[in-house]
Amino acid sequence: MCGIVGYVGFRSAVDVLVDGLRRLEYRGYDSAGVAVKTAEGLKVVKRAGKLSALAEALKEERLEGHLGIGHTRWATHGAPTDPNAHPHTTEDGRIAVIHNGIFENYLELKEALRSRGHRFLSDTDSEVLAHLLEEKYQGDLLQALREALKEVRGAYAVVVAHQDLEEIVAARTVSPLVVGLGEGENFLASDVPALLPYTRKVIFLHDGDVARITREGVEITDLEGRPVDRPVVEVDWTLEAAEKGGFPHYMLKEIYEQPWVLENTLGGRLKEEEGSAELGLSLDPLAVRRVHVLACGTAFYAGWVGKYLLETLARVPVEVDVASEYRYRDPVVEEGTLAIAISQSGETIDTLEALREAKRKGARTLGVINAKGSTLTREVEDVLYIHAGPEIGVASTKAYTAMLAAMALLALWLGRARGTLAEEEARRLIREMRKLPRLVEEALEKRPLVAHIAEKYHQAQDFLFLGRHVQAPTAYEGALKLKEISYIHAEAYPAGEMKHGPIALIDEHLPVVVLATEGPLYEKTLSNIQEVRARKGKVIAVATEGDEGIRGLAQDVIYVPKVHPLLAPIVSVVPLQLLAYEIAVLLGRDVDQPRNLAKSVTVE
Ligand code: F6R
Repeated sequence: MCGIVGYVGFRSAVDVLVDGLRRLEYRGYDSAGVAVKTAEGLKVVKRAGKLSALAEALKEERLEGHLGIGHTRWATHGAPTDPNAHPHTTEDGRIAVIHNGIFENYLELKEALRSRGHRFLSDTDSEVLAHLLEEKYQGDLLQALREALKEVRGAYAVVVAHQDLEEIVAARTVSPLVVGLGEGENFLASDVPALLPYTRKVIFLHDGDVARITREGVEITDLEGRPVDRPVVEVDWTLEAAEKGGFPHYMLKEIYEQPWVLENTLGGRLKEEEGSAELGLSLDPLAVRRVHVLACGTAFYAGWVGKYLLETLARVPVEVDVASEYRYRDPVVEEGTLAIAISQSGETIDTLEALREAKRKGARTLGVINAKGSTLTREVEDVLYIHAGPEIGVASTKAYTAMLAAMALLALWLGRARGTLAEEEARRLIREMRKLPRLVEEALEKRPLVAHIAEKYHQAQDFLFLGRHVQAPTAYEGALKLKEISYIHAEAYPAGEMKHGPIALIDEHLPVVVLATEGPLYEKTLSNIQEVRARKGKVIAVATEGDEGIRGLAQDVIYVPKVHPLLAPIVSVVPLQLLAYEIAVLLGRDVDQPRNLAKSVTVE
C-alpha cells in the first residue's frame, strides 16, 4: 500500500507534495513525511499519525524548495512511529528514499549492510534501499538505483532524491507508479488523483521500469539501463470527480454516484436490437468451457453474484475463489478455462497472483477492472472496464454495483453467443438492465427510513445478514460494509444455512437483516424469517415494492423497486450500504478511512 508523490519544477514542492498526499491518503494513513531539497540541503519532516499531523509540523518548519518527495504509509514492517515513517535517508542525509511495497530479503540485506558499518534508524524494510544507494552512488543516481534494485527481492514503487541533483529517480515492480507530465515541471504519484490538479498527461510505469524525472523531461529505462518507450496517456477523470463534491464523506458521494456509474458501465454496450451486448473482447465465447472467478473482499462477492449470472444465462460452470486461497490450492485448470479477475484497483496482489497462477496453468484471462492502466489491466488478455470513476472511500460501494453490472453484461454476451439465452429473454433482460440507474436512484430515496433504522439499532453488538440464491452474496456484502466502517461484528449466512448453527445466536438483542426480494427462493426466505421471529430476533427485511405481506413478519421493511431477480443484488445492496454508513456516522467512526484498512492492498 502507501501513497507516493514526487515533484520537480517551479512550485513550492511541499505544497504539491502535501496536496498530492491528501489525495492518496486512502492508500494508507499510519504516518506521513516529505523530503525537500532546500538551500541548506535535503530536509526531512515526518510524523506518525494522519497527514494532518505532518501538515501541523510543516507549519513549524517551513521547507523552501522546488524538488521533493512525499509518502503516506500503511505499516507493514515496523510500527507506525516517527522513525518508521518515510522518507528514509542515508546517515549523511544526502539521499532520501520513499517506498511502497515490501523488500522480502531486507533482513539479510540489513545484516550485510550492518557488517559493513551502516547504522539503521528504523525497523522498516525500506531503509535498506537508502543504505544500498549510499554504497552504489558514484555521481549517477539512476545507475545507482538500478544497481541497488538488483539486490532487493520483492515488490516496490520507490522514489529517490539526492541533495546535489536537480532530479528525482524512481522505479517500480508490482506496486503502481505514474509519471505526470507538466510544462517546466514533472510529477510522480502512486495514483492519478494526486496528479489531476496539475496535469492530465500521464505515463504509467511498468514492472521493471526505472525513471529519471527532471523539470524538462522523463527518461525511462529497464533495470539493465536499456531505454524503454512508454505511451503518454490522456486521462479523462475530472478533479471534481476525484473529490467529495459537497458530500460529507467520499463514501456517501460514491453511494450517490451509483446511478450514473451504472449508466457508464452499461451505456453504449447494450444492444437491444440484437438482444446482446458489445464488449469489444477478443475472447472466443465458444471456446469457454468453464470459468474461474478470482477476487478479494467486495470484488469476491461481485464474483459470487457473477456465478449465478453466468451459470443461469450462459450455462457455463463457474468456480469462485477468494484469490488469496486460489494459488495455494493447486487448482485444476482444464482446457477451455477462462480466469476472470475482478478488481477495483487492479493492484490487489492476491488477485494478481491468483491470476498469474491460472495463466501459468493455461487459462485464458479476462479482467473486470476499474483503474485504467493498473497492473492487472496489463496482465490479462482482455479487459472489461467497469467505468466507475475514481473510488476514494476505503469501503467499496460504486465499484461493487458497477462490477455486478459488468458481470451481467458478460453473462448476457456469453449466453447469446453460446445460444443458451433466447433472444426474447435477452431483450427482456436488457430492458431491465436499462432501468437500473433509475431503480438505484429510487433505492437511494430510502435514506431517511434507513437512517431511522440505523438510529434504532446502532447500539447493537452484533448483526446477522441473511439472503438466498443471488442475494446470499448481497448479505455478505452488507455485513462486510457494516464491519468495515462501524466496527460492529456482523456475520452473513445463506439463509437456508442458518438452522445449521448460527440460529443459536438469535435472541431479542440480535438485529437480523434479511434479503427477501422476489425471486426463486422467496417463499423459503419467508420461512427463514419465521425461524428468526420464533427466537425473538429483530427482523429488518429488504423486500420488493408492493409486498405488503412481509410487514406482518418484520419489525422494519425497506422496500426496493422490482427488477429482474438476477439483477436484484444491484438494487438491494444500496440500502445496506446506507445502513452501514448511517450507523458508522452515528457511532462517530472515520467513515472514509476506517481503522486498519487501506484502499488498495498490494501486500500478500
Ligand atoms: C471492501 C473493500 C475490499 C476490496 C478488496 C479488493 O469494501 O474495499 O474488500 O474489495 O480489498 O480490492 P480490489 O477490488 O481493488 O481488488
